[in-house]
Amino acid sequence: MKQSRIIGTGSCLPERILTNAELEQTLDTNDEWIVTRTGIRERRIAAEGQYTSDLAGGAARQALAMAGLEAADIDLILVATVTGDLSWPATACLVQDQLQATRAAAFDISAACSGFLYALSTADSFLRAGTARRALVIGAEIFSRIVDWQDRSTCILFGDGAGAVVLEMGEGAGQLLGCHLHSDGSQWPLLYQLGYGSRNPAGDQSRNPEHPFIRMQGNEVFKVAVRSLSEVALEALEAQSLTVADVDLLVPHQANQRILEATAKRLGLPPEKVMINVDRYGNTSAASIPIALDEAHRSGRLQPGHLVLLNAFGGGFTWGAALVRW
Ligand code: UT7
Repeated sequence: MKQSRIIGTGSCLPERILTNAELEQTLDTNDEWIVTRTGIRERRIAAEGQYTSDLAGGAARQALAMAGLEAADIDLILVATVTGDLSWPATACLVQDQLQATRAAAFDISAACSGFLYALSTADSFLRAGTARRALVIGAEIFSRIVDWQDRSTCILFGDGAGAVVLEMGEGAGQLLGCHLHSDGSQWPLLYQLGYGSRNPAGDQSRNPEHPFIRMQGNEVFKVAVRSLSEVALEALEAQSLTVADVDLLVPHQANQRILEATAKRLGLPPEKVMINVDRYGNTSAASIPIALDEAHRSGRLQPGHLVLLNAFGGGFTWGAALVRW
C-alpha cells in the first residue's frame, strides 16, 4: 500500500557547547540541580551570525543526501519553528532560497515543541492528497535568542539545533502509519513568548511592561505533559491495533529526562526502548524529534521493521504522536 515514507534524515547542531559548569559562573544554579531535575548536562548555542534557516538548511542537505535526492526534487518545504529568522516571511522560504529548491512551496508551522509532528502530519496530508510528491519536513530552533539568560528556571533548559526528514509517497521502509494531534488553547498562558504582534505592537514600549522572553510555569507544564503524552501514545497505537509491547523505540520530544522517564513508566515501556539525548542538547523544541531520529538512525539503533513511536508536548498547549514502521 502507498503511504508517506521517511526516506532520509539529517541534523545540524551548532559547534559551541555550553556546559552546566559554565552556567554556574553566571547564575545561581549548579550542575547537580540541573542534572537531577532535567537530565541536561550541556546544550549547543548558535554562533553569532548563524540563523535558524542556516541550521535548517544544514539538516535538510543531510536528509536530501541520504535520500539520494536533489533540492529540485522537492515540492514542499515545511519548517516547524517558533524562533524563525524573522517574524515573516517564513523561515521555510529562506531555506527554499538557500537550497535552491525552486519547485517547492514553503511555509512554517508554529506548534512550539510539538511543531515537528504537526509539520509531519501536514506534509503527510499533502502527499496523500497528491498535492506534493516529496516533502522536506524540518524542525529548527534557536531558543538561546529568546530565553532570559538571567532566569535560571528557563535558560538552563533550552538549546539550539535542527533536524529534518525527507518524506515521499511510495511503498517500502519508513512508512508513516499515522499521526494524532491535539491542542488545548485554554492553557496558553502557562508557556509562551510575547514577542511582537497584535497584543504587543512593534515599537510601542509603553504598552508592554512585560519582558519579551519565554515564560513558563514549568511544574504545571510537567504534570499535563506526562498525562497527555502517554494518552496520545496509546491513542496512536490503538488506531493501528498495536500495543506498547509492539514498540521497538520511543523517540520523544526531549523536554526533560524526568518527563521522558515518567511517560515511559506510565506506558510500561522499558528505559532501553527510549531514545534520550536531552543530556547533550537540552530541549531544542521542534528540532528535538528529528535530531533524535537522525541519531537513532545513523547509530544503527533503528533497524528495518522496527516500530518507532514519536511523541511531543509543547506550548499552546499542543501535543501529538506518530508511528513509523522503519
Ligand atoms: O518542551 C515542552 C515544554 N516544557 C517542558 O516540558 C518543561 C516542563 N517542566 C520542567 O521540566 C520542570 O518543571 C523544570 C525543570 C522547569 C523545573 O523543575 P521542577 O522540579 O518543576 O522545579 P520547580 O520549578 O518546582 O522549582 C523548585 C525549586 C524552586 O525553589 P523554591 O521555590 O523551592 O525555593 C526554584 O526557584 O528550584 C528552584 N530552581 C532552581 N534552583 C537551582 C529553579 N530553577 C533552578 C535552577 N537552579 N536552574
